[in-house]
Amino acid sequence: MKSFVCNNESARLEALRRYQILDTPSEEAFDDLAFLAAQICNTPIALINLIDANRQWFKAKAGLNLPEMPRNNGFDSICMESGEVLIIPDTLADKRFATNPLVTSAEFGVRFYAGVPLLAPGGEAIGTLCIVDRVPQQISPQQVEALQTLSRMVVRQLKIRRNLVELVSIEQAVLLDIVSDAIVVQDLSNKILLWNKNAEKLYGWKSEETIGKQSDELLSTESLTQHLEIYQTVLKNGFWQGELHKISKSGKKLIVESRWTLIKDDHFQAKSILVVDTDITQKKQLEKQFLRAQRMESIGTLASGIAHDLNNVLSPILMSVHLLKAKSRDPQINQMLSIIESNAKRGADLVKQVLSFARGIEGDVQGQTATRQHTVLQLKHLILEMRQIISQTFPKSIAVYTKIQEKLLPICADSTQLHQVLINLCLNARDAMLTGGTLTISADNIWIDKTYASMHIEATVGAYILVKVADTGLGINKEILDRIFEPFFTTKELGKGTGLGLSTVMAIIKEHGGFITLSSCVGKGTEFQVYLPAVNQVPMQLLEDIEIPIGSGEYILVVDDETAIQEITKTSLEKYNYTAITASDGMEALAIYAQYKEKISAAIIDMMMSKMDGATTIRTLQNINPLLPIIAVSGLVTSEQVPIDKTAEYTAFLPKPYTTQELLKTLYAVISH
Ligand SMILES: Nc1ncnc2c1ncn2[C@@H]1O[C@H](COP(=O)(O)OP(=O)(O)OP(=O)(O)O)[C@@H](O)[C@H]1O
Ligand SMILES: [Mg+2]
Repeated sequence: MKSFVCNNESARLEALRRYQILDTPSEEAFDDLAFLAAQICNTPIALINLIDANRQWFKAKAGLNLPEMPRNNGFDSICMESGEVLIIPDTLADKRFATNPLVTSAEFGVRFYAGVPLLAPGGEAIGTLCIVDRVPQQISPQQVEALQTLSRMVVRQLKIRRNLVELVSIEQAVLLDIVSDAIVVQDLSNKILLWNKNAEKLYGWKSEETIGKQSDELLSTESLTQHLEIYQTVLKNGFWQGELHKISKSGKKLIVESRWTLIKDDHFQAKSILVVDTDITQKKQLEKQFLRAQRMESIGTLASGIAHDLNNVLSPILMSVHLLKAKSRDPQINQMLSIIESNAKRGADLVKQVLSFARGIEGDVQGQTATRQHTVLQLKHLILEMRQIISQTFPKSIAVYTKIQEKLLPICADSTQLHQVLINLCLNARDAMLTGGTLTISADNIWIDKTYASMHIEATVGAYILVKVADTGLGINKEILDRIFEPFFTTKELGKGTGLGLSTVMAIIKEHGGFITLSSCVGKGTEFQVYLPAVNQVPMQLLEDIEIPIGSGEYILVVDDETAIQEITKTSLEKYNYTAITASDGMEALAIYAQYKEKISAAIIDMMMSKMDGATTIRTLQNINPLLPIIAVSGLVTSEQVPIDKTAEYTAFLPKPYTTQELLKTLYAVISH
């Protein structure tokens, strides 16, 4: 047979590499072929020999216990390079080999050799199939033919094997991307070997950015010792499972349920670690809300118990003092009785407050609105009454304003309880403005739409009254924002605050089927927003359309990595005659903007995105077009971190959650600046 040898060494090596065979464990199919070669030619040794740049590596070796040898040591590289069958019946009689150490050494003592090159389909010789004997030998033409057939079978087997390997890895890749978890494989020194699509989505790092990097450097917020502990456990037990706090590329804090499994090689040696992470950040937040509600519940029960007992203690004191005062004529004793009376009354007032807090909680616990004392009422009267009280009792350095929408919808409520809500919010505002300021109370009808409801768990679609109580006081620190609604949480001096104000407020509002949100900026002030469901919801559907400015087909770029919000924003915009183009991250947004620059009239950008965050996206867009109207939206409570010029009319900040109406009004304002 005439062979066509490819002389190009690099093509040869590439052909060999594509088989992914070097240094793999032995396989029966190849062992059998080597065994057959030895049997057919009646020699003690037969080898399937693959030759790379420096060595001859034996995939199968019948009668020899040696994994590899240097490339130029023997007969095979000559056979391979010539591309022809090479037969040396007696090595000592051949000048080319008589002094070769393989021939002369006692260890090998090769006296007979016959080799057939292994030719890849492109003609590249990648090794040999050879037989060896320690005595001189003859080989018949039939045996040579058989060897050539076997060499073709070896190459065919190599091809089948490669197809299988590829199939498995394609299957694996498809499977890896189908699952919704982030899957990472790292070697024993934490170097990342595999990073699936969902890991890209969750952590914001592209696969090519992570391969070869240390996993703990990219993501971990865990301490080194904790990391070491996990690692040791995996090595020892083969498995570890637990919660980990991680940080995405954009700095987003994530909580993941992480499962680590040790992967072993065919010889049961630890090879790598498979890490599967499930994002449970949102679940954890809900859990926290739930736990807080439960804690409130138990404190409420406890507080109401104590309050009832205290009432029983205080009532006889008050009654007796009253009687004693009527009897006594001694002014000194009377004075003392008055002190006792006023203190007991203060005690009773405190008990009343605790009880109303507990009552709110109880209503909440039973999951039903206690409508017994609820009547349909106009908040306007309550607010005006409140204003009266404030102007009489608050320091003159605090200016009070009220803004009440005309035709404010009625609500169904307990007026005493709502009075308490307003009082508590106003007292807090007063305490935050020790050197004076402005207190504004406003009330408006609003329609909570699907957009808003999808961003706030307590909100449902319908008509609400929004009461805002805003001050220009100290503001609330981010660190304590989370805690202010907790019962007994106070930053006030001992004896100055019970810390029950806001928890009572929250409990009452919940009992009324409403909810409360706030925004605050340290040094600038705080605004509490109380949402109470309005009655007569049916005709109120119309509210949704009131005063909503309609677009005229303008293109709006919507950038949000949460598909649900992206979709609902798009639908709302399109309903009001805008054309929405959506992007799931900053990079995509920039690409779209570059393409449709002339068409796009404004961009709505979420600040917290995992790939390129909102701040960077806004800055880059503004570099391209400094006058592009932009609305930055964010679930953060404050607008401090938003890199937009708050005085510019063509940029705006919109805190999440927002209604379509708010979004459209803001959009209209920035576009028509
Ligand atoms: N308008 C506000 N400005 C700044 N901080 C506030 C404001 N409202 C509440 N806070 C903070 O929230 C904490 C809790 O408020 P809450 O009304 O529950 O209790 P309190 O005012 O401390 O005590 P109490 O209401 O029983 O007199 C306050 O101590 C304060 O730190
Ligand atoms: Mg208070």
